[in-house]
Amino acid sequence: MTPLNVAVCGGGRTGHLNTVLFKTLPAVRVSLLTQRQDVIDRYSDGQPFTALLPDGRALVARPDRVSSDPAVVVHDADVVVITVPAHARPAVLSSIADRLPRDRPVYVGAIPGFCGFDLLAEKMLTDRPQAVIWGMKDVPHTAFGLRPGVSVRMGGAKSVLHVATHDRETPVARQRLRETVQRLFESPVELLRDYLEITLTPANPIMHSSAIYGLIGPYGQWHDRLIPRLVSWWTECSELGAYFMQRSDEENQRLCKAAEQQIGVDLASVKPLKQEIVEAYGAQITDTRTLLSVLRTNRAYHSIQAPLVAHGDGYVMDRQSRAFQEDVAFGLSTLVQVGNRLNVPLPHIEEIYTWCASYMGGVSRSARDYFPPNWPA
Ligand SMILES: NC(=O)c1ccc[n+]([C@@H]2O[C@H](COP(=O)([O-])OP(=O)(O)OC[C@H]3O[C@@H](n4cnc5c(N)ncnc54)[C@H](OP(=O)(O)O)[C@@H]3O)[C@@H](O)[C@H]2O)c1
Repeated sequence: MTPLNVAVCGGGRTGHLNTVLFKTLPAVRVSLLTQRQDVIDRYSDGQPFTALLPDGRALVARPDRVSSDPAVVVHDADVVVITVPAHARPAVLSSIADRLPRDRPVYVGAIPGFCGFDLLAEKMLTDRPQAVIWGMKDVPHTAFGLRPGVSVRMGGAKSVLHVATHDRETPVARQRLRETVQRLFESPVELLRDYLEITLTPANPIMHSSAIYGLIGPYGQWHDRLIPRLVSWWTECSELGAYFMQRSDEENQRLCKAAEQQIGVDLASVKPLKQEIVEAYGAQITDTRTLLSVLRTNRAYHSIQAPLVAHGDGYVMDRQSRAFQEDVAFGLSTLVQVGNRLNVPLPHIEEIYTWCASYMGGVSRSARDYFPPNWPA
């Protein structure tokens, strides 16, 4: 079997889990890029990583290299898998761009690939035409319970994985990408027709921002007040939050229709949010009537807490949390950009984005930085 060099960039939960899973495959060499010195020190001491599987088994593997030096990790990579959150991707891409192999194709992708990773990578890798840009629609498994450099817990696996490439890639490059990614995962890997199928799939950017707006936005019950206790994101989702989510999702569907008409892509695979959740969680949801009832009665969502930090006698939303830094600044701003470029009015999404951005104290970096001036031409 041909050897495959995989560089995982990001030593968090997703990075640890995929490092172990890839390293247990035949003829796959795995290098991990991490800024965590504790992980590097443990690795230098000869320690392996462990993935704790849902069925109680443990997979133990020691990657071939663990380093904070991008050159060490990516100089001989065939595949790069970026597993840092969207707001950390620009720094990672800029650190690896000059160190990628120049003599052959290298598949540079993000797991998950949302927030317009294709356009960011195009911008950051302008001098690397041999980079084949790709993304995965979701994470192949959830990952949690990280003990850095020691172990990570794996949640249930997705039964089918969907990948897409930047639309500049050739049919041959797309097929080779699919085959290469398939070597890394047990579940079947299917190629999406267009990267917009990833970008426009409704997910956390719409869900988290609407839930925040419903709780602490100008019409929310905790507006300008301390929240007295910890709150569950979904079991306690407010009616107002679900209303804004539904409206945002309808606007997202309008984006899909406009993209189909103006760009000529087929986005039939992008389903409304409620349908996405019902299909993903099935019998775990006891009441599928409305988006609100789906959110409140999904057992898989029960223990998920909203990102609150203690403040005075209560709590406030954590502006540094991923719900703001990733989902608003990079996720929702991507939808705002798509709407502007396709001339689709997005009154609810823009209202929520503007309010959340202001609550964050302004958004200095966002998808606006990397949407090509002529997109979608
Ligand atoms: N975990 C899941 O089950 C899950 C589920 C759905 C989606 N996702 C998505 O997968 C991506 C990775 O999530 P994760 O749960 O693996 O994240 P995580 O455990 O928090 O790890 C993220 C890693 O990214 C690196 N990083 C660099 N700059 C960062 C910054 N400013 N803020 C946070 N991290 C930074 C760090 O790695 P180094 O120090 O090694 O550089 C960090 O350990 C995110 O986009 C997330 O939304 C994850």
